[in-house]
Amino acid sequence: MKIAPSILSADFSNLGNALQLCDAGGAHYIHVDVMDNQFVPNLTIGPPVVKSLRPLTEKYMDVHMMVIEPEKLVEPFAKAGADGITFHIEATDKPQQVIDLIKSTGKDVGLSLKPNTPVSDIEPFLDKINLVLVMSVEPGFGGQGYLDGSTERLKEIKQLLIEKGLKDEVKIEVDGGIKLHNAKEVIDAGADILVAGSEIFKADDPVQAMKSFYSLGNS
Ligand code: DX5
Ligand code: ZN
Repeated sequence: MKIAPSILSADFSNLGNALQLCDAGGAHYIHVDVMDNQFVPNLTIGPPVVKSLRPLTEKYMDVHMMVIEPEKLVEPFAKAGADGITFHIEATDKPQQVIDLIKSTGKDVGLSLKPNTPVSDIEPFLDKINLVLVMSVEPGFGGQGYLDGSTERLKEIKQLLIEKGLKDEVKIEVDGGIKLHNAKEVIDAGADILVAGSEIFKADDPVQAMKSFYSLGNS
């Protein structure tokens, strides 16, 4: 199990400090929420910010694009220093082309789905990607509550990966409303990577919050 702190909930005036906290807490990934005010009703981080953060950390930069026309941002994020690039199945009518484009940059490919999107929509692409990002809130904002149906969806996707012989190749990441109190539930349901924003960066002690996630995962 790995933690991916979402810097969406960090202090945007001091993102360098957020990265230092991630180092101190032993986080594996840095989750970067990219919103375009079209696919979701919020506007956040673009490639120049990722480029500025890149020299400050050696951690895996996990870019979650919540944008329409994702193909337009693949190369800019790849050049800015992303390690993995995730797009939404609902955001494009040519997912295979976006997958091929991300692969051509040498980056890991992630495919995400919103809470009401049928799992069957991503099924044809499971053997072509590195990561499924399961949204457990409606994308757009940090600090929302975990949607209960998400645990069943995690189990369903895990089962599908097992049946297809892909469980080691394709990681499952869960994003939205992940707290210390429900982390064990999503790990047991099959999540390999836990995104956590507010639970970490709104905590009094973000480093301790990260360490607490890891101790849960290892128990
Ligand atoms: C929501 C984002 C999430 C968000 C998670 O659209 O994709 O990554 O930052 O924040 P919390 O953990 O506060 O739900
Ligand atoms: Zn996210």
